[in-house]
Amino acid sequence: MNLILMGLPGAGKGTQAEKIVDEFHIPHISTGDMFRAAIKDETQLGIKAKSFMDKGELVPDEVTIGIVRERIEKEDCIKGFLLDGFPRTVPQAEALDHMLNEMNRKIDFVIHIDVDKDILLQRLTGRRICKQCGATYHLIFNPPTSVGECDKCGGELYQRADDNEETVNTRLEVNIKQTKPLMDYYGSQDILRTINGEQEISNVFSDIEQLLGGLKR
Ligand code: AP5
Ligand code: ZN
Repeated sequence: MNLILMGLPGAGKGTQAEKIVDEFHIPHISTGDMFRAAIKDETQLGIKAKSFMDKGELVPDEVTIGIVRERIEKEDCIKGFLLDGFPRTVPQAEALDHMLNEMNRKIDFVIHIDVDKDILLQRLTGRRICKQCGATYHLIFNPPTSVGECDKCGGELYQRADDNEETVNTRLEVNIKQTKPLMDYYGSQDILRTINGEQEISNVFSDIEQLLGGLKR
């Protein structure tokens, strides 16, 4: 099962990815998470990515494509993978198709989580993430049981550096521009499926489960 999760910043890609991975046992490949890990470790990649991420801009295609290629060649991806936040541009999508072709593999579904942009600012500025296990919460829509503490592991919750109002606005603008060409690209391959992301988190997941039910072994 080879899947792509696409959607604007805050649409719920990370939130649904956690659930998909629990249920279908495929590795979760988030380019955003990979860049944040590199920034934390102060690697060359991290230093490069940080200058773009801090402004809410996209990291250059050649950098992003390179890290995805390395990742999907790893052994744990043989049984499938879930790409979250990649591809985000048509050149990235073309490069991915090229890589998969060489590996004799293909994407089964591109799941587009559709949410109106007006809702996303509130979703992103209210987001909190566990330092320890990466679980995602929201101060209003998905609060932890005790304030500032992860339900799953007790870890401390923090706010992402790019979740401030100014950077969120740039992220939305940049990503909205890429959405239509990307949807046209996958729409023409007939693998694009759009899910209503404005429902409750559990209902969004039910729709995804229904879509993926046919692929489950
Ligand atoms: P990345 O980390 O991928 O961020 P993003 O695309 O901006 O998406 P988010 O992680 O912010 O949102 P999400 O859809 O996962 O939402 P979540 O589930 O957390 O990328 C960060 C940066 O890295 C980019 O800006 C770019 O610089 C760089 N980058 C990454 N990939 C790249 C690429 N391919 N090319 C170039 N550059 C790249 O949900 C958000 C909040 O809403 C949470 O608080 C959650 O609890 C809540 N929520 C979720 N679902 C619901 C719901 N149904 N109802 C109510 N609340 C909900
Ligand atoms: Zn945790």
